[in-house]
Amino acid sequence: MASLIKLCFFFLLLVQASLLLSTLVRSDDVDENDIVQGINSYRQSLNLPALIKHDKADCLADEIADDIEDQPCTSPTNGANIVPTMQTKLPNLPSHLRKCKIDVNSTTDGVIMPVCVPKAVSTLVLTNYTRSPRYAKYLNDSRFTGVGVGSESDWTVVVLATRLSLVLGS
Ligand SMILES: *[C@@H]1O[C@H](CO)[C@@H](O)[C@H](O)[C@H]1NC(C)=O
Ligand SMILES: *[C@@H]1O[C@H](CO)[C@@H](O)[C@H](O)[C@H]1NC(C)=O
Ligand SMILES: *[C@@H]1O[C@H](CO)[C@@H](O)[C@H](O)[C@H]1NC(C)=O
Repeated sequence: MASLIKLCFFFLLLVQASLLLSTLVRSDDVDENDIVQGINSYRQSLNLPALIKHDKADCLADEIADDIEDQPCTSPTNGANIVPTMQTKLPNLPSHLRKCKIDVNSTTDGVIMPVCVPKAVSTLVLTNYTRSPRYAKYLNDSRFTGVGVGSESDWTVVVLATRLSLVLGS
């Protein structure tokens, strides 16, 4: 009887450990849909149309998140705003653009916004976009119509695209 209770107890511990593990794994990177929804609520509060998920912007955001995943949050990339024609901050940018079939000459109005928040807590990531003036000004810009989000570990990358880059980049 005692050993049966011990067995049950052990089983319960196992279940708890695996639940804990799965939450830890899931909280590893941010929920990308949460970020898009949050940005669109912010746009709605400013009477701007919602951004539409843009495949190429999404591709680029994923590639960049993969690229910078191992950088510490103290890296200058955190909070930088990068336009696709500016390659100094992201040396691998040209190859990411090629991989995502984006013509750099057609995307001068795009913007890449990488944010690093320890544990990538969605709400903190979102306030980083909506509260920092350098990013909020892009979110509050009716020229942008498309959005892509990528995330890896502590990093979230939001890419905004204009109607122009939607047409020419396809
Ligand atoms: C983009 O523009 C630059 C300079 O104007 C030019 O050298 C380059 O060939 C163009 N690239 C493409 C893919 O059209
Ligand atoms: C962005 O996130 C970092 C890390 O959590 C935090 O220190 C910083 O204050 C945040 N900035 C804004 C504008 O929310
Ligand atoms: C958003 O942009 C409009 C028009 O440029 C400006 O009047 C408004 O103050 C901005 N709002 C915020 C919160 O930045």
